Amino acid sequence: MEHQSKSLMSRLPALVVALVIIGGIGVMISNAVSTPDQDAVAELIIPNLSPAAETGKQVFDNNCAACHGANASGTDMGPPLAHTIYNPGHHSDAAFFIAAKNGVRRHHWNFGDMPPQSQVSEDELTSLVSYIRELQVANGITYQPHNM
Ligand code: HEC
Repeated sequence: MEHQSKSLMSRLPALVVALVIIGGIGVMISNAVSTPDQDAVAELIIPNLSPAAETGKQVFDNNCAACHGANASGTDMGPPLAHTIYNPGHHSDAAFFIAAKNGVRRHHWNFGDMPPQSQVSEDELTSLVSYIRELQVANGITYQPHNM
């Protein structure tokens, strides 16, 4: 017992060095992997919603969250909409109506195409857009001129 803990103690510095190196490589890999996504909101802030946005959240949860995630934070089926690229300067409110009506061809990500969501009415989409915009503003995502 005494002997064992001693030899562990003597190996401790090497163990620590190895862990630091492994940890460092891990950080490097995760940095490399997350580079295209660096504009994603790391820690999503959930605001107090206006009544319209509250209705919109229900529409979103019922029709969009399966792919776009709880609180629009994304899943492996679809991108986060609480993301800088969906700021109103790059994706206007109209983009949401068009996306729901016609679906979306894959172009920003590798999730594949979005199927049309024509079961969602224009009124429902109006509330839904309020919801997404309030969520975006709470997370510092505001209008940026589109210059791509
Ligand atoms: C079956 C999965 C799925 C569902 C359900 C879904 N989406 Fe999407 N959506 C996607 C994917 C995937 C993309 C990204 C396409 C790309 O840019 O590569 C996308 C993109 C979008 C975009 C960006 C459009 C653009 O012009 O680039 C909007 C806006 C959007 N979705 C809104 C919605 C709304 C609102 C709902 C619910 C009414 C919804 N989506 C339901 C998968 C889905």
